[in-house]
Amino acid sequence: MNKNRIKIALTKGRVEKQVVPLLERAGINCDQIRQKKRRLIFDSVQPYEFILAKGPDVTTFLERGAADIGIVGSDILVEHHSTQYELLDLKTGQCQFVLASTKDFDPDEPKRKIIGTKYPNITKKYFDSLGQDVEIIKIEGSVELAPLTGLADAIVDITETGTTIKENNLKIYNYLDKVSTRLVVNRMSLKQHPEEIYSLVDKLEGAIKNENLSKEY
Ligand code: PRP
Repeated sequence: MNKNRIKIALTKGRVEKQVVPLLERAGINCDQIRQKKRRLIFDSVQPYEFILAKGPDVTTFLERGAADIGIVGSDILVEHHSTQYELLDLKTGQCQFVLASTKDFDPDEPKRKIIGTKYPNITKKYFDSLGQDVEIIKIEGSVELAPLTGLADAIVDITETGTTIKENNLKIYNYLDKVSTRLVVNRMSLKQHPEEIYSLVDKLEGAIKNENLSKEY
């Protein structure tokens, strides 16, 4: 790892897929990321270097100063009570939290519900706001399995296209907060490298604006 470069922790998977084209439109070379195989650290145009990590780890890298910039979903930032400084909404990775379950689920049934989720804090906050005490089971992936297998009564999860819910015969019972990908920065890094960081923000802002204009046209 090159100490002189600005380290950008990019969330791998869905965020990465949508952000790489945006970075390229902003003039950032992502060839190495596109050809990555199992590699985790990538050079780009000076002065940037990318690391690929899971969303929750992106916030840890930033908090500990092991990365200067993080590109991560607002779902992760809210769930992990991140205090990192948010510089830009990248307007990609747009999805929404939903309460979902099987078609026979009754959200008004007066019993203590069991809720499966990858987001226990967000789930607790939601049910607290309804004045409902629920049991929360933390699930790491394929949350939709929980109501289908009887592990939970319902789930709180993000949905983007709605395909997973539809293909698994689930139903949405409520829409909660919206989610999008954010660019966050370690405050110390911003003090040390303001030019490089704001220059990246400017380039990305331009790329987002151009994309919106071409959509409108
Ligand atoms: C998320 C979410 C749903 C799915 C919804 O999982 O937990 O399972 O996406 O997307 P859709 O509405 O477009 O179908 P993700 O694919 O990020 O991975 P995971 O289930 O392995 O955590």
